[in-house]
Amino acid sequence: MSYLTLAVLLHWATAAIAPAHAGASAGAQRARPVIISTDPGIDDAIALLLALSSPELELRAIGINFGSLKNTTQLAQNALTVLALAGREDVPVYLGAERPLSQPFHDLGGPKFHGTDGLGGAYRAALPPSLAVNRSMSAAEFIVHACRHDASPKPPLLVSLAPLTNVALALNLEPRLPELCPDLYLMGGTVLAPGNVGFLSEANVANDPEAAARVLSAGFHTRVAGLDVTMATWLSHSFLASLQDLNVAGSFIWNITRFYERAHHELAGFEGGMPLHDPSTLLMFLQERSYELKRWPVWVDTSPFPSVSRGLMLPDRRGGPLSPPPPRDATVHFGMSVNATSVRQLLRARIAATSAEFE
Ligand SMILES: *[C@@H]1O[C@H](CO)[C@@H](O)[C@H](O)[C@H]1NC(C)=O
Ligand SMILES: *[C@@H]1O[C@H](CO)[C@@H](O)[C@H](O)[C@H]1NC(C)=O
Ligand SMILES: *[C@@H]1O[C@H](CO)[C@@H](O)[C@H](O)[C@H]1NC(C)=O
Ligand SMILES: *[C@@H]1O[C@H](CO)[C@@H](O)[C@H](O)[C@H]1NC(C)=O
Repeated sequence: MSYLTLAVLLHWATAAIAPAHAGASAGAQRARPVIISTDPGIDDAIALLLALSSPELELRAIGINFGSLKNTTQLAQNALTVLALAGREDVPVYLGAERPLSQPFHDLGGPKFHGTDGLGGAYRAALPPSLAVNRSMSAAEFIVHACRHDASPKPPLLVSLAPLTNVALALNLEPRLPELCPDLYLMGGTVLAPGNVGFLSEANVANDPEAAARVLSAGFHTRVAGLDVTMATWLSHSFLASLQDLNVAGSFIWNITRFYERAHHELAGFEGGMPLHDPSTLLMFLQERSYELKRWPVWVDTSPFPSVSRGLMLPDRRGGPLSPPPPRDATVHFGMSVNATSVRQLLRARIAATSAEFE
């Protein structure tokens, strides 16, 4: 999206907005500022494209967190690659956590799914030298800065598509973060679906369970897109192929997902296609009605590595007259099922709509 297009879009959104408190009637609403902590990563790259092509969101900054790869320099380059593709060099990229909060990093297989460069070896174009990370702050410092000072009517939405280290570090710097920026959307964990790096553990939580435990108990209004919904939002080979000829963004997605699709076949036994992990987090914000959300208290297992239960995210799903209702501070909502048809349509429409705008 060009800067001009965005400016026009924002102007239009601002002009069309009803006076505050007039109720969220149909139609345009002011774009919500969003800060994305990410480890790009093939599915992260798709999520960034989705954020950049969604008028409901205004991407304020990208914070890099280790995860899919250990090499945060490479992860930052991948984020810059997506921004260059979208003509959005104005979005700053801040470097963040290079290792888990308190324990060593145990690579749980990220490069096997994302390639050693994080984008499946599909993209080698040199970045313009003007495009660089912003070293004035760390990702955690930027989160705190933005949550304290952003003057938008609604505080920035925090989105985590990586281990939760950056958010945990931001909480260390500013314990009032859940009051300043209450809304946190994250990709991580699983409730009933099988795990992907352990029996019941998912990579983003398992790569830094201490950070996940800290963040999930901090009091954010949290929406969790875990494997229960991300595995259920399957993109078939033919769906991916149909993106290829749409436009530059579609061609990019097709190219970077070749490796990812093959890895899901060879390493995880799937017939074809791929699950939609990180973009589901944004889709949950963009189209909440397509998700069934359940509010439960949650506990994260931080047993020492190695352990089969380390990284297990365990919500207390008991209900009924003999069980207590969730405590008032149980503000974590888990996506348990999804209308995948509907969210796939939205994803495709958003990618399709970029044609005239991306460079
Ligand atoms: C990390 O990635 C950068 C950019 O691709 C590369 O120059 C550097 O050598 C990598 N570092 C390591 C330790 O592999
Ligand atoms: C880096 O970020 C800071 C804080 O957001 C901003 O003031 C500064 O202009 C940025 N630097 C560059 C080179 O964009
Ligand atoms: C995707 O790969 C094809 C074949 O290598 C290439 O022609 C095309 O430019 C690539 N698309 C993007 C957006 O880089
Ligand atoms: C799922 O979404 C599609 C497309 O929006 C809609 O036609 C369908 O009725 C929805 N299914 C359910 C079960 O709500």
